[in-house]
Amino acid sequence: MKATAIAHSNIALVKYWGKRNGALNLPAVGSISITLDALSTTTNVEFVPGLNKDQLFLNDIQVEGKEQIRVQNFMNLVRRESGIKNYTVIKSGNNFPTAAGLASSASAFAALALAGTTAAGLKVTKKDLTILARIGSGSAARSIFGGFVEMHKGIYKNGSDAFAEPLADENYWDLRVLIAVTSESKKKIGSTDGMTQSKKTSPYYRNWIAASPKDLSGMRAAIKQKNFTKLGEISEFSCLKMHALALATTPALIYWNGTTVDGMHLIRELRGKGSEVYFTIDAGPQLKAICQAKDEHKIKRELEALPGVVRVISTKIGGPARIIGESV
Ligand code: DP6
Repeated sequence: MKATAIAHSNIALVKYWGKRNGALNLPAVGSISITLDALSTTTNVEFVPGLNKDQLFLNDIQVEGKEQIRVQNFMNLVRRESGIKNYTVIKSGNNFPTAAGLASSASAFAALALAGTTAAGLKVTKKDLTILARIGSGSAARSIFGGFVEMHKGIYKNGSDAFAEPLADENYWDLRVLIAVTSESKKKIGSTDGMTQSKKTSPYYRNWIAASPKDLSGMRAAIKQKNFTKLGEISEFSCLKMHALALATTPALIYWNGTTVDGMHLIRELRGKGSEVYFTIDAGPQLKAICQAKDEHKIKRELEALPGVVRVISTKIGGPARIIGESV
């Protein structure tokens, strides 16, 4: 009745922002990501008789409040599916400093979905596992797979067609992502709340949704053709559009700091000088540079030299979520 799973974080090249249904966490747009080898969460789930709630430990520290409730609600789905009544002890750890502002719900809920269902003895398909992970966090569905992954928004009310599937595995194309950490403080408005606000108030929301299919088909083609220029251009475009939507939300969602903006200029300058590199940014101030393996060291040095950059984490494309320990 226990299992341990590891899942990698991911970064969206075509961004997910907005929900068509909050309760089932159904995305309003599809998204395409790459899984990141260097950032992972390892989670152990054990069903224990006699507990009165799920106990969550993050890097050995017990977590209460909002996060515990989110995890318990998620585990209720596993209990409902398996018929198991017991609560669990969940021990989760990230292989990167949590303070770095990189703590990701993607790797966390992917690892929890896999460890939780395995510990419960449930036999679920990969597709159903992505649907379950999605209910925990939209981006987590993509972390079930390695390589290049597409999340479908689906159209059904019950969310049965809002799942993730792989486009190509982690060995398909040797790209690198360089994460320039520009702040170690926790973000003020998380993605979930930010998306709700954007849907309610951003005048760009409709256009964002309407423009999404074109970005998705362009990105699918870029990956198929291994066209790095196309992949990079669509990534930057999708990122900037998402942030334009966020900036035009009331109250404004300004996820960048000064170094994030300097980083964007640096990447564009480097491109002007002949290095093919593109940026993307999620709902926080860290800047992620995407490049080909041959340019990794040079770009890393450039980012490290940028004032305000705390550190640069370099990563290859990572593999799928997997079980690393199991017992009855
Ligand atoms: C900016 O998956 O964290 O990283 O579904 O509410 O948990 P919830 O949101 P989450 O949002 C990710 C937003 C993003 C873009 C992306 O990863 O596609």
